[in-house]
Amino acid sequence: MFIPIEKISDLQEFKKDIFSGKVFVFQKSKTSNDLITQIKNKIQNIYDGEIEKIHYLKNSEDISKDIVSKLKNHEDFRKLFSNFLFEIGYNKGETFWDRFVVRVAPAENNLPYREASRINIHRDTWGTNLYQQINWWAPVSNVEEKNTMIFYPDYFDVPVKNTTSTWDLNIYLANRKKGDFSYPSAPQLKQDLPSNTKMVPVTIKPGEILCFSGAHLHSSSKEKSENTRISFEIRTICENDINSSAQAPNVDCDLQWKFPKIFKKINDNSPLKITS
Ligand SMILES: [Fe+2]
Repeated sequence: MFIPIEKISDLQEFKKDIFSGKVFVFQKSKTSNDLITQIKNKIQNIYDGEIEKIHYLKNSEDISKDIVSKLKNHEDFRKLFSNFLFEIGYNKGETFWDRFVVRVAPAENNLPYREASRINIHRDTWGTNLYQQINWWAPVSNVEEKNTMIFYPDYFDVPVKNTTSTWDLNIYLANRKKGDFSYPSAPQLKQDLPSNTKMVPVTIKPGEILCFSGAHLHSSSKEKSENTRISFEIRTICENDINSSAQAPNVDCDLQWKFPKIFKKINDNSPLKITS
């Protein structure tokens, strides 16, 4: 289900593919390799041990939190990722992005909160109500099936029960500002998927970058693993897609409002506004 790609030759076709559920893997490039090197170097400045084995330390959660907060939206990563978007032919000057996040997912799924923890089944569009949203995700070191990201591709356009009718991004953001992580960071799945549900783990290599619609149903893997996972992620949205209504289907999101304000224009940092 992962389609290898180096450069986008027809942006409109590419978006059409993304919004119909196709998932692309951008191949290693000088820029993507530089990005991985930069992230690794900056992690090492904070913790110089073997980061994948950090879960054996008593204070692993504190170190993870430190890494995540110090590297969040780092200017060097933003610059490289912006170069990457330009080089692959994605950003034509009308792209907005949210924050560049380096995530540290523990070897065990025992932290039900905070950005360092593994994440339950969700669609990113449940958080924003914007169906032009595109996700970028990449491992910083090797990932294994037991601790990576999982797709549930058969549910891309099939509804599942969820809490979007009651969840509010503004409440989450206000609580987070106060250091309160008790409110869920995103709406939750409200049903069990059948045991025979098709699950596709992502095992791409560092330097490769995954690109998919924010409407895909996905999660972190649930198993106990030998390794802590380090990955990065960011979301983008393009003004042209909003204006031309090129978008993924909304099959089950009942959010009352759209939440464009987490997106800022890459070129001038102006906030995304939805007028219609
Ligand atoms: Fe997600």
